[in-house]
Amino acid sequence: MEVQREQKTQGSIWNGQKSFVETAPHTSSMKLTQFLLFLYLHLSSCKCISVSGLPQEDLVDQKCLLNKYTHRSCNKVFCQPWQKCVEGSCVCKLPYQCPKTGTPVCTTNGRKYPTYCHQKSFECLQPETKFSNNGTCTAEGNFNVSLHYGNTYAEGIVRVRLVDQDEKMFICKKSWSMTEANVACVHLGFQQGALVARKRFNVPGDLLINSTECLHVRCRGIETSLAECTFTRRRTSGYQGLADVVCYTRDADSPSNQSFQCVNGKHIPQERVCNGVNECGDQSDELCCKACQGNAFLCKSGVCIPNEYKCNGEVDCITGEDESGCKETRHPQIHDNLARSDQDQEGETEETEILTADMDIERQRIKSLLPKLSCGVKRNTHIRRKRVIGGKPAEVGDYPWQVAIKDGERITCGGIYIGGCWVLTAAHCVRPSRYRHYQVWTALLDWLNPNSQLRVQTVNRVIVHEKYDGTTYQNDIALIEMKKSSGKKECELSNSVPACVPWSPYLFQPNDKCIISGWGREKDNQKVYSLRWGEVKLIGNCSQFYPNRYYEKEMQCAGTDDGSIDACKGDSGGPLVCKDVNNVTYIWGIVSWGENCGKPEFPGVYTRVANYFEWISYHVGRPLISQHNV
Ligand code: ARG
Repeated sequence: MEVQREQKTQGSIWNGQKSFVETAPHTSSMKLTQFLLFLYLHLSSCKCISVSGLPQEDLVDQKCLLNKYTHRSCNKVFCQPWQKCVEGSCVCKLPYQCPKTGTPVCTTNGRKYPTYCHQKSFECLQPETKFSNNGTCTAEGNFNVSLHYGNTYAEGIVRVRLVDQDEKMFICKKSWSMTEANVACVHLGFQQGALVARKRFNVPGDLLINSTECLHVRCRGIETSLAECTFTRRRTSGYQGLADVVCYTRDADSPSNQSFQCVNGKHIPQERVCNGVNECGDQSDELCCKACQGNAFLCKSGVCIPNEYKCNGEVDCITGEDESGCKETRHPQIHDNLARSDQDQEGETEETEILTADMDIERQRIKSLLPKLSCGVKRNTHIRRKRVIGGKPAEVGDYPWQVAIKDGERITCGGIYIGGCWVLTAAHCVRPSRYRHYQVWTALLDWLNPNSQLRVQTVNRVIVHEKYDGTTYQNDIALIEMKKSSGKKECELSNSVPACVPWSPYLFQPNDKCIISGWGREKDNQKVYSLRWGEVKLIGNCSQFYPNRYYEKEMQCAGTDDGSIDACKGDSGGPLVCKDVNNVTYIWGIVSWGENCGKPEFPGVYTRVANYFEWISYHVGRPLISQHNV
């Protein structure tokens, strides 16, 4: 670990002053961009300025759009509990992987399944087997949706027949948004969902007069059957207005140069992008956002979610911040709707009767039953943090995922424990044929005076990335499998804790603060015997420092503005870890290379571990490192 010695004692103060000086030119450039924005807003007659006043290019990340992310992209969103994440896509699990407990459900074609999860995972194989109702199948017939009074088969007033209800009923306009309209159209076989959620159709007069009773519906937007949404009956003295829809068909779509093209091919108005509402139906309008407009919340991963998903007890942002720092969790769903409509009705009495089960709550229950992985959380939370950044010796238990790799008589590299018998390190640290010469030292602090917690493991095998390139340092990643102690089924490393393996490149961003640790050399090439650590920030745009040598997808730069904290010779293979909002630690990078040590114009370069999630899980097994979507 490279740290400029003279700064150590007063490091934080000195750094603070330094960064103040350095931000000065940055502030003036901010003013310039603000001025340009002002000019743009006031002089341009272009309609491509969104509701929030942000030009589209400040709202949408164009480069991100090239990835064609949808609600099935687990780099951006969590998969459904009946799905798992494979190579960045949510694919369906097999029904036997569902939790066994739950109530039986019935499908629209009259088949029975033991739980909602079982039905949903069967639906993946047979899409026509849609959800109909919670409970057993009745002779009365099933849930049914139809459109009426439209000019084509793809539009009209929405009518549903709920299970156990004799009459068909209409849906209240008040409860109807693009979210529900998309689900209704998908239910009817229009894969792209709805084109518009509201339109006026000519309906018979008596229908208008008699419509003081209608169904109120609430969907999440990911349902494939309208029956998965929650229905309540509303009775008021006044006319409520009935929900109608135009479902998406190729002929009806009228793209203009102002429209946004969804991944599913549908066009939506540009101004509805990044507003938290899944207008596309495949969520592609909400996944590449630099900012959100309207009533929406921006996840660090660039996803806009509706504000009401904040602090609702379910994590929606893959980075978790929608549920952190919440005073209490609210459960909006039906209750919010009631409150809202009661206010609207001013003085009029409104009767409400819940008619169907809340499958959104059932979905969350299934989620909570799935196995959870424990990683990235230290056991002993003896917080005796030093305020000085970097250059400080670590204490026992501070970096329980840090290991040392001993080659013969010398400690040559660091490594990271990721669970089971597996350690991650740099490819340039090891050679598969030399595995007998290696030892993995876990829970080590000082190798001159080994502490009692130290455990020494021998090595079973070494796997080097098949595309590792020793000249460019591309794919500088390797796995070490430790030997199990004789007679044991597992590697028992009671003093070690695995760091979590990041499954998405969007978990951390440039400027996030992270920590490096190791037994590497100091600036003056002085030997280091005890584990040292330092705080660095992730650096974006690193090609400016290493033209033609930096590979964005596979590498990550990190360092400090003044270069005072850096990894150095001997730190290789060791961890660059970052903590999420819940204080869970991820192994974001592996110390790989860097020009010199501790020079601001040459930051440290790390192997970007998130890029190798599939490679790692192929070798160590998916369940060992998958936290979600197993
Ligand atoms: N390759 C070095 C090693 O084997 C690590 C270099 C890291 N250098 C840096 N400036 N961050 O230990």
